[in-house]
Amino acid sequence: MAAAEGGPGAVNYHDGPMDRYAVAGNPVSHSLSPRIHALFARAMGDALEYSTLEVPLDAFASTMRAFFAAGARGANVTLPFKVEALALAHSSSERARVAGAANFLALREGRIEADNTDGAGLVADLERNARFGIRGRRILVIGAGGAARGVIAPLLARAPASLVVANRTPARARELEERFRALGPVRGAELAAIPRDGFDLVLNATSTSVHGEALELPRAAMARGALAYDMAYGKSAGAFLAAARAAGLEARDGLGMLVEQAAESFELWRGRRPPTAPVLEELAALRA
Ligand code: ATR
Repeated sequence: MAAAEGGPGAVNYHDGPMDRYAVAGNPVSHSLSPRIHALFARAMGDALEYSTLEVPLDAFASTMRAFFAAGARGANVTLPFKVEALALAHSSSERARVAGAANFLALREGRIEADNTDGAGLVADLERNARFGIRGRRILVIGAGGAARGVIAPLLARAPASLVVANRTPARARELEERFRALGPVRGAELAAIPRDGFDLVLNATSTSVHGEALELPRAAMARGALAYDMAYGKSAGAFLAAARAAGLEARDGLGMLVEQAAESFELWRGRRPPTAPVLEELAALRA
């Protein structure tokens, strides 16, 4: 199967060849990234094209090499290729290596560079948009896969009081404890035995929402008025967030994280950070 490019995000204000970008994934047609980058480009007065690139499951490296060989400047990478994206690159940032995955590729002087903007996107959304200060707070991360691994170091860098990683398979949570313990107060735990620490934030970093599965909210472990955050966005996050609201918690999906990681990507590619608040407002209005 050939890779298909398309999507609604193309913007062209000037004649001549435009800088080309795409979000690569499978499936990827539902991605909001083309729309987000089109809004950024308009706000910044930039001419660029940002489309979706549906990559065959067995041909990530060859598809991306062909994409860059044809003159593209950069790509965001989404499921299920984030680990392969890191392996493909000629060089990578420290945060991508710590996460063990990349959601960002850029072509610079003929070399593919990898980075990971997901953790920065989460921290920016929490601090700027949700006005949740991380410093001194008790944080519960549920899940120990790639999504969790990408956000633990950026969260620890903001000096929370504690960070517990709880996972269905406890050995994977303990692996992350080992991996990150030098960076801050992180502990691994079993999902079925979450300590009742009065957490201020619970982060759903499992794949349950993406796969339409249920994840029980550990309400007894949460502080009153705590924030429940699902890294998925839209309908898929619905069940987890509804349970949070029913338990009297604040609830937030990962739309703001998506927009903030996109802004971080845009800045890395183009040197200027676009404003995110109007984009978040516009997307929130669309789904209201
Ligand atoms: P991702 O890259 O999206 O994190 P992953 O590496 O496959 O995907 O990890 C999925 C995470 O979701 C894991 O932490 C997984 O728990 P296990 O390590 O025990 O498999 C978690 N997960 C998936 N389905 C789950 C469920 N129904 N209940 C609880 N945790 C679940």
